[in-house]
Amino acid sequence: SLRISFLILFVYSAQVIDANQQGAHIYKEDNGSPIPSYTVTRTCGKNGPIVLEDVTLIQHLAHFDREKSPDRVVHAKGGGAFGYFEVTHDITQYSKAVVFSKIGLKTPMVARFSTVTNEAGGADTVRDPRGFSLRFYTEKGNWDLVGNNTPIFFVRDPMLFMAFIHSQKRNPVTHRKDPNMAWDFVSQRHETLFQMLITFSDAGTPDGFRYMNGFGSHTFVLVNEHNEPTYCKFHFLSDQGIKNLTAEEATRLAGTEPDYSIKDLYEAIDNHDYPSWTMYLQVMSFDRANRVKFNVLDVTKMWPESDFPLIPVGRMVLNRNAQNYFAEIEQLAFDPSNLIPGIQPSRDKMLQARLFSYKDTQRHRLGPNFIQIPVNSPLKPNHIVNLQRDGPGLIYHQDGEPNYYPNSFSPYRPDIEQDFMNYTIDGVVMRHDTSDADNYSQAREFYAAMADHDKAALAKNIGNNLKDVKEPIAVKVIRSFGLISSELSSGIEYHMRK
Ligand code: HEM
Repeated sequence: SLRISFLILFVYSAQVIDANQQGAHIYKEDNGSPIPSYTVTRTCGKNGPIVLEDVTLIQHLAHFDREKSPDRVVHAKGGGAFGYFEVTHDITQYSKAVVFSKIGLKTPMVARFSTVTNEAGGADTVRDPRGFSLRFYTEKGNWDLVGNNTPIFFVRDPMLFMAFIHSQKRNPVTHRKDPNMAWDFVSQRHETLFQMLITFSDAGTPDGFRYMNGFGSHTFVLVNEHNEPTYCKFHFLSDQGIKNLTAEEATRLAGTEPDYSIKDLYEAIDNHDYPSWTMYLQVMSFDRANRVKFNVLDVTKMWPESDFPLIPVGRMVLNRNAQNYFAEIEQLAFDPSNLIPGIQPSRDKMLQARLFSYKDTQRHRLGPNFIQIPVNSPLKPNHIVNLQRDGPGLIYHQDGEPNYYPNSFSPYRPDIEQDFMNYTIDGVVMRHDTSDADNYSQAREFYAAMADHDKAALAKNIGNNLKDVKEPIAVKVIRSFGLISSELSSGIEYHMRK
């Protein structure tokens, strides 16, 4: 597997080899036969035409023609690395998940950090939230926590996710990024304002991936061995501390070092300066969730740390770069529905929609058997037996086990004990509109608690961004931020008109 192959291969970027070593090995075609030439095409006569029998050229052309897979529809630009998670504190009273089962237990993992609406070739320092995707390769399967560097998100109803993202992507007519679209959406949907405060502060331009925190963002449900549930939020606080870039530094680096963040992460690991993050939980009983003044199933809300203190759990360390970026990072298929017993989704409707969306896009992006790509496979993939068969890219043969169930030939069965915890729901089926589910209280508290220089940067960053926006939309945006603070809205207007 790729996980093993990194040990035995040399790294092409590492060193220039001795001239007398060159030519010591013969290149091989994919079928294992020797490659006769990589410099001269086989032609009939000096000036051609090319003969179809130049199978080396044909294979070379044809593979090149197919060497791109579709970019991720969001989070296309990113970098990642491998490492481990080590349990330092006992939280088995909350979760039976194997990844937390014993102090000292180390679980192999991979992390990928990204910008969101930025494209694959875009600059790392653009203003955007940063993706913070983690995969834990546990004995009970892969657990993915696909979060951001922000504890909240812009919208709370998944129906709005696609429109929100579109508003930040290219204008379908001009094919340019269009701040009119982005700000138009924000001014019409005030649940976005809270996260806009974070994104337009200097936290929207972190100084690389190592100096930022990560959050599961949604409320999840932990279940212990007595099948008792607890709501929880996951936090990963950077042991390197927090460092952000100013808007000016970020803009300069976008021109001079567009791959700033992936370079920083790669070089730190290459220099054995391994970045780490400490994992914490916030927990809340189901009973208490009915009594707090915000909806715990709303991803636009934070849980105040004063009421729900951070509980330490363990430490994640990244200590190995990928051997091949495309194979091990680009082909990673993180998915919030990759869960293990002891960790299950809450009813947060954003999270519920995500449970569908990721594998759906990955079947398109990487093909139906993307789970069999080594970085996406669980530990011991040869031991996986289920009823899924065939399709392009199939590798594992499941030892000839029957492809139907029940059957009379196999010792395998499903295990209902491993199912998500059962729960009862009573409710009216309808489109429950959440547009006015308290869009301002937490945003106001957050703004009030910001340091003066952060408030100043926020007003300046938004004001400068609004300079290219049509007047009626800019006015609506300024009014919207006025609902959070009049100081903020006048600061924004001052910079916009400057
Ligand atoms: C990537 C959909 C909300 C974090 C993606 C991808 C899709 C998607 C289709 C591309 C996946 C791939 O090609 O592998 C959605 C939908 C959402 C949603 C439909 C809401 C309804 C969120 C939220 C967060 C988030 C709330 C964070 C809290 C990420 C991250 C990635 C990603 C970090 C990149 C994964 C990687 O590193 O490969 N999302 N997303 N998404 N999403 Fe979401």
